[in-house]
Amino acid sequence: MSSLEHLFEANRQWASEMRDLDAAFFDRLCEVQEPLHMWIGCADSRVSADQIVGLMPGELFVHRNVANLAVHTDMNFLSVLQYAVEVLKVQHIIVCGHYGCGGIRAVVDHSKLGLIDNWLRHVKDIYNMHKPVLEAETDPDRRTDLLCEFNVTEQVKNVARTTILQDAWRTGQEISVHGWVYSLKDGLLKDLDITITSREMVEDEYQV
Ligand code: CO
Repeated sequence: MSSLEHLFEANRQWASEMRDLDAAFFDRLCEVQEPLHMWIGCADSRVSADQIVGLMPGELFVHRNVANLAVHTDMNFLSVLQYAVEVLKVQHIIVCGHYGCGGIRAVVDHSKLGLIDNWLRHVKDIYNMHKPVLEAETDPDRRTDLLCEFNVTEQVKNVARTTILQDAWRTGQEISVHGWVYSLKDGLLKDLDITITSREMVEDEYQV
């Protein structure tokens, strides 16, 4: 017997509850997925994408990695983004960071964690862009939270700068890129009000 039998038991119970609530639920999901939202979030186990925004299976297209990065050469991220925008035609892309992020904290603390330090170099670059402001904040928790916000802002810009978003806007597709931060302390989301809704909002040199 699998040592993870409790997970299968929980799964059977969940599937049964879903069928009780809505007998056609799984049949509908088999036919089509039409999510309106794409989520780019941290891999952190405490930030469960659909759960914290009250969305059901089929309603949120999700990409997660450590520190919610949108890296220009990450084929995994680009493939998810291209499929979401061009095939699923999502209307909103949400980059969601979270306060107290371990990846961001590792950058602030100059920790050595292994291979992942190379991935986090992208965050280190953002640290260096905002070094005077960050180092004016002496409390390491607050410095981490500030870098979480700067990181979300840069990733929102990165998403908007991709050829995928530029092409979508050029052909008249309505799509918004939002930047949010989630608080582990109270489970609440904060909108950083940095939404990008058109190619004109992106620097000239990135426009298609
Ligand atoms: Co995190």
